[in-house]
Amino acid sequence: SKAGYEHFMLKEIHEQPKGITDTLEKRLDEKGFIKLDDIRLTKEQLEDISKVYVVACGTAYHAGLVGRYAIEKFVKIPVEVEIASEFRYRDPFVDDKTLVIIVSQSGETLDTLAALRHAKKKGARILSITNVVGSSIARESDDVFYTWAGPEIAVASTKAYTTQIVSFYMIALYMALKLGRMDEKEYKRIIEEIKLTSGKVQQIIDQDSKLVEIAKAIMDRQHGFFLGRGLDYNTAMEGSLKMKEVSYIHTEAFAAGELKHGSIALIEEGTPVIGIASQENLFEKIVSNMKEVKARGAFVVAIAQEGNTEVEKVADMVFYIPKVDSLLASILTVVPLQLIAYHVAVLKGCDVDKPRNLAKSVTVE
Ligand code: M6R
Repeated sequence: SKAGYEHFMLKEIHEQPKGITDTLEKRLDEKGFIKLDDIRLTKEQLEDISKVYVVACGTAYHAGLVGRYAIEKFVKIPVEVEIASEFRYRDPFVDDKTLVIIVSQSGETLDTLAALRHAKKKGARILSITNVVGSSIARESDDVFYTWAGPEIAVASTKAYTTQIVSFYMIALYMALKLGRMDEKEYKRIIEEIKLTSGKVQQIIDQDSKLVEIAKAIMDRQHGFFLGRGLDYNTAMEGSLKMKEVSYIHTEAFAAGELKHGSIALIEEGTPVIGIASQENLFEKIVSNMKEVKARGAFVVAIAQEGNTEVEKVADMVFYIPKVDSLLASILTVVPLQLIAYHVAVLKGCDVDKPRNLAKSVTVE
């Protein structure tokens, strides 16, 4: 049931603080270490891994992009992220030293399942991140990490995404500690930071009325853009997908630095551009990209960390997320974008939970 919410999508956005807490805290032992009951990878097997592929579709693919960042940073193993429908037709180099991480909320996406089988045949070890116990992908994997998001009904994926990101951080921390590539202090610090994201997501949700105002300002537009750098580029991609999927506004995500290599030609008077500016080390850069589009007439909406008021000089509207370690900002930055997409869809009278042409789980090629 929708438990009093107007749509499943809204209910599921609101369930994210709980999903984050459940996924993380139920897996911490008394001493605060991550215990992963369904992952049997030994230290020796981990040492043997020379490469990781993350394979998924849609929103799960976007979570994989964040996962790459976490694994490369903590575990220091090269990671490639690939769309499932591309992966298996490319004949990727996969062998018994490859770990393939499959991400799928439903555990039933056909292309993702086929990619899993393809990689398995080539000798890879398969670790899946899924939300559905006993799903095909869970059953065919060597190791499973369940996101404890609870059932996701709305076609647009929201709580699965944030819990997938948390799962990736946990897997990366777990591997890094096991392999001795991260000291315990840093490991514990990051876990504490992840714990705090749950309350911070709640703080974002509590400011929903500001997001309604942003939605009203852009809802009549035909096109729009999302800009970001580093982890914020991944969020831009996810924000863009949400907007297209539920509100039918054509949006595109750009790595902000790529803009002047062609796409900036699309900016006209009033074109909405949502710039995500959560990464401390890239803050000045993204602000200058916002300035560039503003100078060409764009209507700029910025998503920034509290205190970084400098964005107000370049943005027409600003939404502040609570202060957070840049490393973990992806868990937060997506939430305002989910809510903006949701409100635009509602304001336009779209069928939010069942957008046209879409199915919750894509079990055809
Ligand atoms: O169940 P899965 O995670 O395998 O589904 C993958 C995609 O079909 C899914 O994320 C899709 O992109 C969503 N509709 C996005 O909101």
